Amino acid sequence: MDERAVLAARRGPQCGVPGRVARGRPAGAQGAPRDRWPARLALQRDARGRGGRADRLHGRFRPSQGLSVTDFEALVQPGIARLKAYDPGHDIVALRERFGREVLVELGGNESPFGSNPLVAAAIQAQLAGLARYPDPLATGLRAALARREGLLPDQVLPGNGSHELLMQLAQAYAGPGGNVVVPQYGFAVHVLAAIAAGAEVKRPDALPLDAEMPRGHDLDAVAAAVDDATRLVYLSNPNNPTGTWFPTRALEAFLEQVPQSVLVVVDEAYHETVTVPGVPSARSLLGRFPNLVVTRTFSKAYGLAALRVGYAMADAGLLGPLERLRESFAVNSLALAAAEAALRDQAHVDRFRDSNRRQRDSLTESLQALDLKVTPSQTNFVLVDFGADAAPVESALVERGVVVRPMLGYGLPHCLRISVGDARENARLVSVLSAVMQ
Ligand SMILES: Cc1ncc(COP(=O)(O)O)c(C=O)c1O
Repeated sequence: MDERAVLAARRGPQCGVPGRVARGRPAGAQGAPRDRWPARLALQRDARGRGGRADRLHGRFRPSQGLSVTDFEALVQPGIARLKAYDPGHDIVALRERFGREVLVELGGNESPFGSNPLVAAAIQAQLAGLARYPDPLATGLRAALARREGLLPDQVLPGNGSHELLMQLAQAYAGPGGNVVVPQYGFAVHVLAAIAAGAEVKRPDALPLDAEMPRGHDLDAVAAAVDDATRLVYLSNPNNPTGTWFPTRALEAFLEQVPQSVLVVVDEAYHETVTVPGVPSARSLLGRFPNLVVTRTFSKAYGLAALRVGYAMADAGLLGPLERLRESFAVNSLALAAAEAALRDQAHVDRFRDSNRRQRDSLTESLQALDLKVTPSQTNFVLVDFGADAAPVESALVERGVVVRPMLGYGLPHCLRISVGDARENARLVSVLSAVMQ
């Protein structure tokens, strides 16, 4: 049996955002509710049937006859049994085959339309002769480069196979049965997944209300109030995925002052490089004062290295020690290590990306607002768009026309879609297809 089929069989036919769906606001709570979409869109959705998206995603990997999914489910550990696999969005491989790579507009993954800098290709090329050898298990070069840039010691930096890996390991090392993990409503799906996989309970304090200055953003007061004696870990994202919202670093400081030092506070800064407003310097500046603080970042976004899977955590060396023990041997491969080091050498590339992303984010926001859509303020390379009615028919119609965006049902936001900021051509295509399907 094909290995992917076995994996899909273990996972089961459902694929969604892990954990209980966040407590969403009532339907139509924002903006003028739409009674219905044009009949054309409704028909498309009906033709697809229930669970159409999950079916499309895993349809290629159906379990073959004779493999009993139920038997294996009974054997699985309780934390894992409660898990639903991370939803990576559409079957992008099938869509590329269908539309052609050049035609398909991929705005579902918050990747960089800029790609990586030219030094990266050369660095990867130089590694090719050494593929028979394992990579540096300690990621010495990358650690040293990151430590130098951040003004830390090398053992205060831990590279991982994507920051996803590190986010999972933090819960594995520090949370578990009997404890809880606090993830604010609309917090990043992987944070919930990490807590559940570790066997911990998940507490979901409400996000800020829609009429707040930062609608649907993290409510740090509510998060602090949710921390109790059983809390082991708090995950925050700044800025946050999928809302794009952010909080000032001084608010984080005030929050950290309230949280006992026995509770780890993870600040996920996957979108740190796209922030252009003042007042949100990295939580890195607080590491010296708060030994329970962990900051994670990634090379998948601004550095354009999503395919290579490299991220890193910054924290007290003692806090990172258990993660070192837990990590897979040679977790970050040699191509990824070399590429990340090369990417770090060209800060101008990241600056160009930030500037272009800000311009495109502003103009995309204006275009979407001109279509009467509500756009949540964003400091990331995506925007959360509220359609005021079930957004699934719109999403289906977009993908049928070769434009991929991210549905938000799993986050308890069925009226919303998350749209990555592409380049000018991609954004223009998105806007023109969207305005056509909404007419
Ligand atoms: C908030 C947030 N954290 C972490 C990640 C994972 O990044 P990586 O590619 O480093 O695993 C993402 C990816 O989308 C993200 O949005």
